[in-house]
Amino acid sequence: MPKFSTDSIHGHDYYDEQIGAFKVPLYLSAIFEHPDRRTGEARKSDRGFEQKYSREENPTVRAFERVLAKLEKGSEALAFNSGMGTIATVYLSALASGDTIIISKESYGTTQDLALNLSKFGVKTILAGPETDDLVAKIDRRVSLVLVETITNPLVRVVDVKEVARRCREVGTRLIVDNTFATPLLYRPLEVGGWLSIHSVTKYISGHNDMVGGVLALNDSMDLVDLWEFRRRLGSIMSPFEAFLALRGVSTLKVRFETQSKSAMAIAEFLHEHPKVESVYYPGLEDSPYHKTARKLFSAELYGGVLSFKVKGGKSAATQLLKEVKVIKPSPSLGGTESLLTYPLTSASKTMSPAVRKELGIGENLLRLSVGLEDVEDLKDDLAQTLKRT
Ligand SMILES: Cc1ncc(COP(=O)(O)O)c(C=O)c1O
Repeated sequence: MPKFSTDSIHGHDYYDEQIGAFKVPLYLSAIFEHPDRRTGEARKSDRGFEQKYSREENPTVRAFERVLAKLEKGSEALAFNSGMGTIATVYLSALASGDTIIISKESYGTTQDLALNLSKFGVKTILAGPETDDLVAKIDRRVSLVLVETITNPLVRVVDVKEVARRCREVGTRLIVDNTFATPLLYRPLEVGGWLSIHSVTKYISGHNDMVGGVLALNDSMDLVDLWEFRRRLGSIMSPFEAFLALRGVSTLKVRFETQSKSAMAIAEFLHEHPKVESVYYPGLEDSPYHKTARKLFSAELYGGVLSFKVKGGKSAATQLLKEVKVIKPSPSLGGTESLLTYPLTSASKTMSPAVRKELGIGENLLRLSVGLEDVEDLKDDLAQTLKRT
């Protein structure tokens, strides 16, 4: 069995015999010959869907999907024009009027917000958790879908996905795991019986803050057809150019993620000791309440490249930090080459109700840091200089 990095580079199995090319070309063509004039039949992609129009199936997108399916240990994958495009397609494909979906209380705000807006179509959304015990307790036979994040946004709690998957299997409900923060290097939800593993490809998978995309991996061929049809109807497929960038990005995922995780650990330790920092949230720290679960779940001894922290001095100190960091850039995303400092109150958690934010501890002095690939000493220095001035 090829190992992770080998699959991330060669997993598309592309080779053009005629010209001897190994790299996947960018097929910008929207149209393909239909029917195939040599055979008179519909041309099919490698997995048997008609290959006639790029809103449905595209060879560059297919190559990226093949890599992601291998990394997530799924039989198939579908790529989308954003993480939210993925989630929207899944909701519309899998939910019907009268259904109930449980979403972890701490998860990307728009994931919750979109589900809550489906109430107008008769879908009920329950926010549960974010602790594993509470999620497990709320899952019963009346629930059609469950969505959790392996590592939550923004307080990087680690959900015991194995336990949640076990409970979902017990009651016969389907589990979607947003694996964006963990990546398949740390965890592969399909291996414990998750129905779908999904990503905002915008983040670690593409890794360079230069594209927006999403993907899902799965093992069920019937559900693949259903999800593929909904992607076709909604027009939510990834564009060929984004797929080209995603393919290039994912080939270096392991080395990027390892470096980012190690740097995040060093920065978490540095902030943990800093007198102007009230608290640090990072599952790699031994005193984190999620350290044990992270060690149990994650195969590599890595804990991801995102950490959060609360600064002393409330909102004004947090705002000052955002304004004054130099190497680190203030921006709402994560997982790329640039280190990004985010204010969850006005970004990832903006759409949550104030009561939920309060319950979770997403306050005015909370900042989230996505550690990039800059020299870690420069990042620590940037934080030290800026904190000195608060
Ligand atoms: C965990 C998580 N899931 C999904 C999304 C949505 O992805 P996108 O911005 O690519 O639509 C985000 C975006 O920040 C995210 O953090």
